[in-house]
Amino acid sequence: MIAPRAAAWRRISLLFIAATLVLPGCPSDDDDDGAAPDEADKAERTDTDDAAPDPADGDAAPAEIPADADATAREPVLPEVILPPADPVPKPPAGLPPTPAPAHNPITAEKVALGELLFFDSRLSGEGGMRCADCHDPERGFAGTERRSTTAEGRTNRRHAPSLENVAYAGAWFWDGSADSLEGAIDSHWRGQMAADPAAVAAELDDHPKYRAHFERSFGSAPYPSHIAAALAAYARTIRSGDAPWDRFERGRRGAVDEDAERGFRIFSGRGQCAVCHPPPLYTDRKFHHTGAAGPDSPPDPGRSRATGDPAERGAIRTPSLRGVAHTAPYFHDGSAETLEEAVRVMAGGGRGGRGRDLEPVQLSDDDIAALVGFLESLSPEPEPREPPAVPEP
Ligand code: HEC
Ligand code: HEC
Repeated sequence: MIAPRAAAWRRISLLFIAATLVLPGCPSDDDDDGAAPDEADKAERTDTDDAAPDPADGDAAPAEIPADADATAREPVLPEVILPPADPVPKPPAGLPPTPAPAHNPITAEKVALGELLFFDSRLSGEGGMRCADCHDPERGFAGTERRSTTAEGRTNRRHAPSLENVAYAGAWFWDGSADSLEGAIDSHWRGQMAADPAAVAAELDDHPKYRAHFERSFGSAPYPSHIAAALAAYARTIRSGDAPWDRFERGRRGAVDEDAERGFRIFSGRGQCAVCHPPPLYTDRKFHHTGAAGPDSPPDPGRSRATGDPAERGAIRTPSLRGVAHTAPYFHDGSAETLEEAVRVMAGGGRGGRGRDLEPVQLSDDDIAALVGFLESLSPEPEPREPPAVPEP
């Protein structure tokens, strides 16, 4: 009869489901279940993006068992949590070159998953209760929504928090280019903006089984401050803006942009002279210029001279990428332009009051300005932020 057969079949399929749940690499609950990963799992965990070298290679912190561990009594380096497999690293969107990463910190799916968690976790600021995402808003191209943000210690920043879109492609980081690696920028600025004590944060993460499992999987070791910065950098490198309507238009999709955008592009690359400093594909020359864009009430900024010590570079600011720019108001290093139109007018005017030493004023009508704004909008696809990850409960 049918009923007993169906019951037996259900038992078999339940057994099968139970078996697949404990198989490595299958999605599973990520709460504590005491199971340690087997060798096949470990092999899968070190898979890297494309031709990236071994992630364990060359990182500052050694993958050692902590000094206090009694290896015979317990196995502290094995995770007590089975993590669901990390999503594959997304390919760069159309229109962007391959995403650069240093040999010592290749972008792996596992690090990106960990970095994303850290980005949204206020544990990173210790008592400060602040998250990276508080100043770099995923809904706004990962830029600050305030003109100048306040640090965890209550200081008003001198500068606006820039968009993190396409941050991997910068040759030097911060508005003055004073950081020569993304890892270094994140590490120093994490301490400064979030008043973090990196060793204390690493110790706190080490107390958490889920984070321990993440660091073990990504770096083969306990959390170290350098791993925290490395994971954040790997995640930040996947924050990219491309495949804009303008890219589709350039690939031959005639209806992808309106006439204003087409006309705006002609002004941008022609008599507006914008493309001199904002050339495609990233719409930045990655150089430093005196554009006189600072607002009248902003504190004076040493600009590039802070990094080089050269007085001639006082006040010179790195050219920002214009991809995604329509969503990242306010603008400029001091956040002094509230709208994209205002920013474009300042640029076209040769800086505020024509004060830009490196910026010739160009004669543009209101229609021309509107067309330029239309072009920049066509370079700015709607941000589609992923749902922020659920950070581990205390
Ligand atoms: C209190 C606000 C604040 C917080 C919190 C904050 N940032 Fe920033 N961020 C800024 C400001 C302001 C700048 C610009 C600094 C400069 O150029 O001198 C910046 C710049 C950066 C840059 C350089 C971008 C570039 O284009 O060169 C990176 C990368 C960055 N932040 C990542 C992070 C990460 C990761 C975190 C979390 C660990 C974080 N930020 C937390 C305000 C903040
Ligand atoms: C001499 C090089 C140069 C030229 C020419 C130039 N720019 Fe810029 N642009 C810069 C620099 C440098 C900044 C950053 C200024 C600052 O923050 O103080 C900037 C900032 C911007 C911003 C603000 C972006 C942001 O994220 O804050 C926009 C928009 C912009 N430029 C558009 C234009 C347009 C449109 C033109 C042509 C009319 C133009 N630029 C011409 C160098 C240039």
